[in-house]
Amino acid sequence: MDIWTPQSWRNKPIVQQPNYKDAGQVTAVEQQLAKMPPLVFAGEIRELHRQLADVAQGKAFLLQGGDCAETFAEFNANKIRDTFQVLLQMAVVMSFAGGSPVVKIGRMAGQFAKPRSSDFETKGDTSYPSYRGDIINANEFSASAREPDPERMLKAYHQSSSTLNLLRAFAQGGFADLHKVHQWNLGFVEKSPQGERYQNLSNQIDQALAFMEACGIDATTTPQIRSTTLYTSHEALLLGYEEALTRKDSQTDQWYNCSAHMIWIGDRTRQPDHAHVEFLRGVKNPIGIKVGPSTSTEDLIQLLDTLNPDNLPGRITLIARMGAEKILQMLPPLVQAVQREGRSVVWSSDPMHGNTITASSGYKTRSVDAILTEIKGFFQVHNAEGTHAGGVHLEMTGHNVTECIGGAYQITEEGLAARYDTFCDPRLNGEQALELAFLIAETLKSARAK
Ligand code: PEP
Ligand code: CO
Repeated sequence: MDIWTPQSWRNKPIVQQPNYKDAGQVTAVEQQLAKMPPLVFAGEIRELHRQLADVAQGKAFLLQGGDCAETFAEFNANKIRDTFQVLLQMAVVMSFAGGSPVVKIGRMAGQFAKPRSSDFETKGDTSYPSYRGDIINANEFSASAREPDPERMLKAYHQSSSTLNLLRAFAQGGFADLHKVHQWNLGFVEKSPQGERYQNLSNQIDQALAFMEACGIDATTTPQIRSTTLYTSHEALLLGYEEALTRKDSQTDQWYNCSAHMIWIGDRTRQPDHAHVEFLRGVKNPIGIKVGPSTSTEDLIQLLDTLNPDNLPGRITLIARMGAEKILQMLPPLVQAVQREGRSVVWSSDPMHGNTITASSGYKTRSVDAILTEIKGFFQVHNAEGTHAGGVHLEMTGHNVTECIGGAYQITEEGLAARYDTFCDPRLNGEQALELAFLIAETLKSARAK
């Protein structure tokens, strides 16, 4: 294989990139970004790698979630807090009710670039370039909005930096203290059946904390009671941006993509001989690979050869997104091939992207039932194969959106219009996400009882 450099992807075929008008302006922005401080530190990335190695070995569970796409318009403290809060609630449910440590990774602080099924969007007689995420162009349907603008990379960088700053403050500054579990249950979720279930669990946690304190275990002896860590992740799609934030770690002389702790490669950009795989093979971050129905076992093993030649546990997370109807048939051969080849991976389930449908009203949606079915199928396959169902990868928000149908509030196709806020894919709202967390906790608990 040729020598890797942060630029070597530029010699390979590439898909899903914007067509910028002014290449000189793109280079100028990339050079500016290359001088900016890294968003995360290599030591943190190594710590996540170590924790994901635990997940690969079945000693912990991975919870990865957040927006399909972050936007410039919806950037505010409450939104960041609410998503963080639901992730905390879910993690507490899974670790307390499910009895498993949970590694938390947000699709946050950098999840701006979107792959699209078509380069153009057409309405009537008019076609414009597709919206590719706020880091590239704007969602409004007009020629000027859809023109890719390299300056947007700078704005995305600064928004990621502020988001990360607030997430670090929430994680370390007292908000995530386990004594506050009740307070995470505020808002519309509190009044739902899941909210009530969560309230009961919080009461049990209070009792457990009081008992532990009586035994001399508190935040001074066990800092995890008072603070937590939320890692960040996004799809490494816009490679010029990713390259600019890739830095050589002075302690190890290794290259790290310092735009996020974990990055993943999408289902549309995982061609083994293309630019995205080339870029990712050289950075030492944990890497996610989306695995859809079109993934062959040969391609998958070839990707593992290229991206993890030393078979390091924690390096690769395979994110299966087959769809509820296909998972039982399509996942087993892949799991078997990985086992047969002796590869260490985290298997995670993305029950969102294989279950997108268009409602009769025209809204893109997903049904909570299909999402639950895919997750159950995912656990069933791993149970049958004797492998670890390692985690979940979700599109969700803390807000009371109406984008996925079903759930305890029984959102209907007609009800989607009420608060359909996403620019991209439909997300679970806080209550639907919590419902899923309880289901996963039960499954984890029964797996441990075996
Ligand atoms: C995504 O995670 O938002 C996405 C586009 O997924 P996939 O690559 O699996 O289609
Ligand atoms: Co999506």
